[in-house]
Amino acid sequence: MTIAQDWAEKYRPTKLADVVGNNKPLQALRDWEEEWEHGVPEKKAAILSGPAGVGKTSAAHALGNEMGWEIIEMNASDQRTAGIIEKVAGSASRMSTLTGIQKRLIILDEADNMHGSADRGGTRAITNVIKKSNQPIILIANDLYALSSTLRSHCVNIKFNSIPQRSILPALKKICKMEGIICGTGVLEKIAENTGGDLRSAIKDLQATATDKKRNRSCGCHHSRKGYKGIYFQSTYQRFQGQRSR
Ligand SMILES: Nc1ncnc2c1ncn2[C@@H]1O[C@H](COP(=O)(O)OP(=O)(O)O)[C@@H](O)[C@H]1O
Ligand SMILES: [Mg+2]
Repeated sequence: MTIAQDWAEKYRPTKLADVVGNNKPLQALRDWEEEWEHGVPEKKAAILSGPAGVGKTSAAHALGNEMGWEIIEMNASDQRTAGIIEKVAGSASRMSTLTGIQKRLIILDEADNMHGSADRGGTRAITNVIKKSNQPIILIANDLYALSSTLRSHCVNIKFNSIPQRSILPALKKICKMEGIICGTGVLEKIAENTGGDLRSAIKDLQATATDKKRNRSCGCHHSRKGYKGIYFQSTYQRFQGQRSR
């Protein structure tokens, strides 16, 4: 049995231009990057904060890829004790790369997950790493204020917002096109409406809907090559009614 690829991963933007919405924060990220082209800026770290599924992680990686920076990522699943952060991020941020020209971007995803955990030294360790670093660092957090004020004061704060429905809709349409799926606009509108600005969640719902359709033809999406004409809007509407709006 083959396991279907997660569309949210499959369609993760790899270029900043492909990140939907959040134009101002993305510009702020570009401005911060530009400072690195002229030396080591005053704020060596940036915090990307905001709700889940709006492109924070994608934007951080897209920036690194576009600049040809080497990326060192530490996720919440990695063991991020103060000692390990200093060892991995600290040495990475001080060392120059082989060419001596290329930069290393350190990405600490879910940086707010360390607060109040068993590892209280975590945020202090990050602050120390930033102070000593000569390389760019991006922290990603859902809750900016879960990070200490000292840590925040060392960073450029870039706030991401939820994605408006009018931007989610075309993003879903684009995926339908790439997947060769025809989905009624009403169905896509309902998905966009019910995901509360979380594009990852919208893409997951779209995939679930399309997969459901393959099984029982009752969810409003179908493969274009099969030539179905009916759009089963009603059942989809019922299906999404009363769903969470995060
Ligand atoms: N702004 C966006 N533009 C394009 N795709 C997005 C955007 N936000 C989320 N996605 C989709 O959702 C997935 C998860 O996005 P991610 O960048 O990890 O969100 P976050 O870090 O804000 O939780 C991506 O792989 C992509 O498919
Ligand atoms: Mg993320």
